[in-house]
Amino acid sequence: MIGQQQEPVFGVGDASFQAAGGEAGLKRLVADFYRAMDSLPEAATIRAMYPDDLGLAQEKLTSFLCGWLGGPRRYAERFGPISIPQFHTRWNVGEAERDAWLSCMAWAIERQPYSAAFAQYLLTQLRVPAERIRQVQQPPGCPRSR
Ligand code: HEM
Repeated sequence: MIGQQQEPVFGVGDASFQAAGGEAGLKRLVADFYRAMDSLPEAATIRAMYPDDLGLAQEKLTSFLCGWLGGPRRYAERFGPISIPQFHTRWNVGEAERDAWLSCMAWAIERQPYSAAFAQYLLTQLRVPAERIRQVQQPPGCPRSR
């Protein structure tokens, strides 16, 4: 009985993947995420970094989040290994771009049938790679390289 009625501990096993509604749930989240990117004025700058057709980007982000949340490692299976911070060094991602990306995620997360606890957890977790992407873009000569 113990634990049966409790909220799962997100981040353990595939609890987060399940809380997100599995692959179907993540597909809905990512579809809403790109809908936000297409419509939120603050996302216009980052939208311009993407191709007109967001179909492949949508599939890739869905596959990535699947494994990242403890589910099947779909991105690795289909596209191979990826380092998220390194991959994004081809664009200029500063605080504004990071925050715009996170705003689209916040908008999308709000529209999912997630518990308040999971919604908050997911956005907090996503801040980590988003911030990491910004950090690795610091130009040479920043304090880190001394
Ligand atoms: C911080 C702000 C971010 C910006 C501005 C950004 C921007 C982009 C852009 C422009 C693409 C290329 C899409 C395409 O050409 O089809 C992309 C791809 C991708 N992004 Fe991000 N991104 C950000 C954060 C993140 C985060 C936090 C994650 C993971 C949690 C992520 C995961 C991915 C993945 C998996 C791809 C597809 C990689 C591939 O082409 O194989 N991104 N992103």
